[in-house]
Amino acid sequence: MTAARVRVALVPPAPGSLPADACAVAIDVLRATSSLTVARLNGAARVVPFATTSEAIAFRDRTPGTLACGEREGRIVPGFDLGNSPAEFTRERVAGKTLAFASTNGSRALVAASRCKRKFLGSFAALTSTVKAIENERDIWLVCAGKLGRFALEDAACAGTIVARLASQGAELANVEARLAARLACAGAAEAHAVVTGCDHGRWLSSLGEAFAADVEFCATVDAINSAQDWGEGAAARP
Ligand code: MLT
Repeated sequence: MTAARVRVALVPPAPGSLPADACAVAIDVLRATSSLTVARLNGAARVVPFATTSEAIAFRDRTPGTLACGEREGRIVPGFDLGNSPAEFTRERVAGKTLAFASTNGSRALVAASRCKRKFLGSFAALTSTVKAIENERDIWLVCAGKLGRFALEDAACAGTIVARLASQGAELANVEARLAARLACAGAAEAHAVVTGCDHGRWLSSLGEAFAADVEFCATVDAINSAQDWGEGAAARP
């Protein structure tokens, strides 16, 4: 059996630019894909990503059973139903709902992977279960959200940790970014925690207050969740 090919994008490529027959993992450790993993775990039906907040609101307004969620400057957007904190995506709030999601960086990684046949939410919080869910895929793309189109250490380290685990199972690191990210792989939970709490975005979020610091703590905890989450049924279908 041919080895899996793993490639990494350290910042989001153009919308829908990843191959349709690939398996994609969108990674925005702080906080989008960590939060959306909680949302799916709590029964949200699907995630539909948007680059702009106005698109998300327009989609919510014409699609029954939809909540607009996400952030700008880390905070809930006026007119949205939810922000971007894992603590907000409770079963009571999101079970059975479609999430029209627009955040500064995370939704750009989701939009880039929107055509892929399988799409997962990547994070340290669900690290081991996500590696398990994709280990038999042939063509894997790990898409980092980055920050405003630039490199973000926490996303690259998470991608690198996934790449290193897949490489230990024989996967081929099929682009330069995958090989670079593998060098940033965290050897254990303590290293991942140090990267996420110490990185630029982690420090900034924690400076916003206790609730945000609690979010950072959750996103920095390896395997806080033991199930991999995809974007949900029909997530690619955006009318
Ligand atoms: C993003 O998508 O830019 C982040 O998830 C923002 C945040 O931390 O809320």
